[in-house]
Amino acid sequence: MDAPERILVTSALPYANGPIHLGHLAGAYLPADIYVRFQKLKKRDIVFICGSDEHGVPITILAEKRGVTPKAIVDEFHKRNKKAFEAFGIQFDNYSRTSLPAHHKTSQAFFLKLHQKGLLTEKTIEQFYCEHCQRFLADRYVEGTCPHCKKSGARGDQCEACGKWIDQTTLIEPSCAICGTQPVLSKTSHWFLKLGDFQDQIKAWLDTKITWKSNVLNFCRGWLSEGLRDRAVTRDLSWGVPVPLKGYENKVLYVWFDAPIGYISSTVEWAQNIGQPDRWKDYWQKDDTRLIHFIGKDNIVFHAIVWPAILMGNGEYILPSEIPANEFLNLEGEKLSTSKNYAVWLEDYLEKFPPDPLRYTLAVNAPEAKDADFNWTDFQSRNNNELADILGNFLNRSLTFIKKHFQGKVPEKGTFDALDTQMRNKIHETRVTIAGCLEAFEVRKAIFALIDLARFANKYFNDKEPWLTVKSNRETCATTLHLCAQVSYALAILMEPFLPFSAETLWRMLNLDSDIHQQNWDDAGQIELPVGHQLGKLEILFPKIEDEVIEPEIQRLKQIRQRLVVKSEGEKDSKTKAEEPMSEQNANVITYDDFSKVNLRVAKIIEAERVPKADKLLKIQVDLGAEKRQIVAGIAQQYDPADLIDKLVVVVTNLQPVKLRGVESNGMLLAAAKENGELSVVTLDRAIEPGTTVR
Ligand code: 2FM
Ligand code: ZN
Repeated sequence: MDAPERILVTSALPYANGPIHLGHLAGAYLPADIYVRFQKLKKRDIVFICGSDEHGVPITILAEKRGVTPKAIVDEFHKRNKKAFEAFGIQFDNYSRTSLPAHHKTSQAFFLKLHQKGLLTEKTIEQFYCEHCQRFLADRYVEGTCPHCKKSGARGDQCEACGKWIDQTTLIEPSCAICGTQPVLSKTSHWFLKLGDFQDQIKAWLDTKITWKSNVLNFCRGWLSEGLRDRAVTRDLSWGVPVPLKGYENKVLYVWFDAPIGYISSTVEWAQNIGQPDRWKDYWQKDDTRLIHFIGKDNIVFHAIVWPAILMGNGEYILPSEIPANEFLNLEGEKLSTSKNYAVWLEDYLEKFPPDPLRYTLAVNAPEAKDADFNWTDFQSRNNNELADILGNFLNRSLTFIKKHFQGKVPEKGTFDALDTQMRNKIHETRVTIAGCLEAFEVRKAIFALIDLARFANKYFNDKEPWLTVKSNRETCATTLHLCAQVSYALAILMEPFLPFSAETLWRMLNLDSDIHQQNWDDAGQIELPVGHQLGKLEILFPKIEDEVIEPEIQRLKQIRQRLVVKSEGEKDSKTKAEEPMSEQNANVITYDDFSKVNLRVAKIIEAERVPKADKLLKIQVDLGAEKRQIVAGIAQQYDPADLIDKLVVVVTNLQPVKLRGVESNGMLLAAAKENGELSVVTLDRAIEPGTTVR
């Protein structure tokens, strides 16, 4: 494909009703960021747009539950999510908000234009009304059983379980999500987009998109074959963009009508911020712009059918050129669920780990063609065995060697032999391969090519045996290390889209004071570090991640999974509350038999000491009456070993023994766990014999 004049990249605007998790990152944000960073190094004219989606029912429901205004909710999450994206290196050119007056104005103008052109139609429909709450229940305000997959706890909207669209009036056993009352059908008027009128136009347009991913095209074909139907674009809600028509003062635009318009408002805001207020028009109104929407698969219908119809109806804007939708990311083999807190939250991750190992793991496991899985063990081994042992190792051994044997200066280049030439050619090949993959949105293949270059370079280093040639043939040794320095230089540039923080550190190690993020992609393998260039201070780029840091993460998810298994066995009684992302309320009823499988005993702590090189672990000896046991507990940050002596605690005695940091743990101490990871050990309030059963 020829390079376009300019590129506008968008990532789906995340709802500002909860924090960002790994599923979000893998779907719509990281692939987009990698693509944009690459195109910036290619010196393309490109803008990366996003912002908070601040309307919609999940936000108002959460606000009602917390007893605060919707504005308080979106203010909180807009700020938190913007910060988390920045800390993770997702470099939007603008991160706007759909609650801004400018966005309301643009959305209303879109609505009015469609209205004036006769592309909207007014209909009186029957909708659920809650007599207790005295209001119409829009979308997710109605809860019941999904008519398609029969999963309970479904909402009027997309089903979380089967992904199908649920008309709220078809929910089985509907109830009001706020008060639980059974709602009644009542008449209300709404404006509908005449989507059916766009059937042929959308089909013809999609027929030209032969290079699009098959998941997107297949999804659209399914919709088209069922025939596009009119869709309501207004709602009975007070939070949102007010409908700009008389008689509709108390209604708002449907969130999926205004949200994609947010891409435009955010671009307008960007243009204002850079002091070129008309610049946004180049990106939205010139045919030689490539408009690319990065999204997750649950957003396909809105971006590939409804939004293009709105744009076609408006007539003043370009249409999407590419919609590289990603499939879903699972977690430790299970579907990720925000309502059940079965997720890894970006903010939590960043408190414990640096961004790049996660960027790497998510890119390697990108859910491009099918659902993919993130698990902590894989994360740890990708960091330790690939980033540290392959990429980090090559850089470390090469640069350290130069420091030690060549006073830290890039050595002279002598005559290249066949191996040297292969190494040099490999840099060029890799640059071309990665570029080709990224142009085709193939992040996985691209990052495999990057690590393959480091693997090749390690082999080159081994085969050249510089530790021997440094004594036997210093000129050959210099040539080897000269080339290793050039590979390091090229790696920094080629790494930048994927591992921007490590690329920065490497740039510093190479003692380059220019900005790595402003380099030219094509310099990798072409521009060389001059002979005699002095290297900077060396650092370990990818420290290893130890078991004891990973173990609590694995255990947290495991515990939630175990609760969910119990829950799904008692499914019929359960109701999910999708808008409470951190809630623990889904723990379900178990039988006494289930409970009695857990052997709980009173134990007296007789010894406690820190586990060497493990910040969080204590090795504890407990007296259980008839026996003594060793338990390793992750409470070292809250408790001094000495303060624990003689405490009476509760221990699970029939857990399978495990080794933590090589220390055997034979049981588990009960402790209350706060969201922030703070622990409080359960103790007994009177003297009881160690070994007594706890029931
Ligand atoms: O699914 C979501 O998280 C939506 N908030 C995405 C909106 S994308 C765009 F249209 F704004
Ligand atoms: Zn109600």
